[in-house]
Amino acid sequence: MFFSKKKQTKEIDYNNLPKHIGIIMDGNGRWAKRRGLPRSMGHQAGSETVRTVIREANKIGIKYITIYAFSTENWKRPKEEVDYLMSLLLDYFKNAEKYLAGENGIIRVIGDRSVFNDDIKSEIERVERMTADNTGNILNIAINYGSQEEILMGVKKIAQKVKDNELNVEDIDAKLFSSMLYTKDQPDPDLIIRTSGEQRLSNFLLWQSAYSELWFTPKNWPDFNRGDLEQAIYDFQNRKRRFGGVDSE
Ligand code: FPP
Repeated sequence: MFFSKKKQTKEIDYNNLPKHIGIIMDGNGRWAKRRGLPRSMGHQAGSETVRTVIREANKIGIKYITIYAFSTENWKRPKEEVDYLMSLLLDYFKNAEKYLAGENGIIRVIGDRSVFNDDIKSEIERVERMTADNTGNILNIAINYGSQEEILMGVKKIAQKVKDNELNVEDIDAKLFSSMLYTKDQPDPDLIIRTSGEQRLSNFLLWQSAYSELWFTPKNWPDFNRGDLEQAIYDFQNRKRRFGGVDSE
């Protein structure tokens, strides 16, 4: 019998899935440049990847996904590119019902939304309201999100409570601090994926990623697919997570 040269797909363990996956979707611009296309086409392709990857992650059974769609630093990009990204986001929210495809999913936005125009703000509120009582998977979309700003926001809330005598300094602990963040009530990410070969967190979920496994791929975001997601999950399942302790065996 001849052995197939085709690479064997590694089986992921559906009983040991990461609960929460964070994704830094990088490389849209390089994907476009390599094809001689404008950067906007890379973002357009990237937004299609968002839809397919979220659908596949839901099918696999990942309960929480957080995608980094626009950082507090992304405002430094040319106005034309920022406007295009905003139009893709607006399209996503406007068509969220269609993209969720009746999967009963919940959409939440994390980040400072106060700076957005009324169109985007009201669409965000509509989608959050519309999906709030659903019982499916939770998609956090990070827009105008920066982890340092989020941490400072938490520090300020706590300082105010101490100042107002609502809280004793001795009662401040990690659990309380977590409850001041956008991701309150959600488990920390077990796995963070970054595409395009860059290996850093870029101000994404810094507090929440204290014990996350980090997984990098050279693929640019528009080329990322279900096979890559399964590979990341497979690798995650084959790492030893000790959370600062020692192996039990
Ligand atoms: C990084 O690629 C990507 C972004 C800054 C934006 C991510 C946005 C999307 C994937 C599309 C919109 C999102 C939704 C939810 C519809 P880059 O531009 O930094 O690529 P480069 O490093 O190659 O230039």
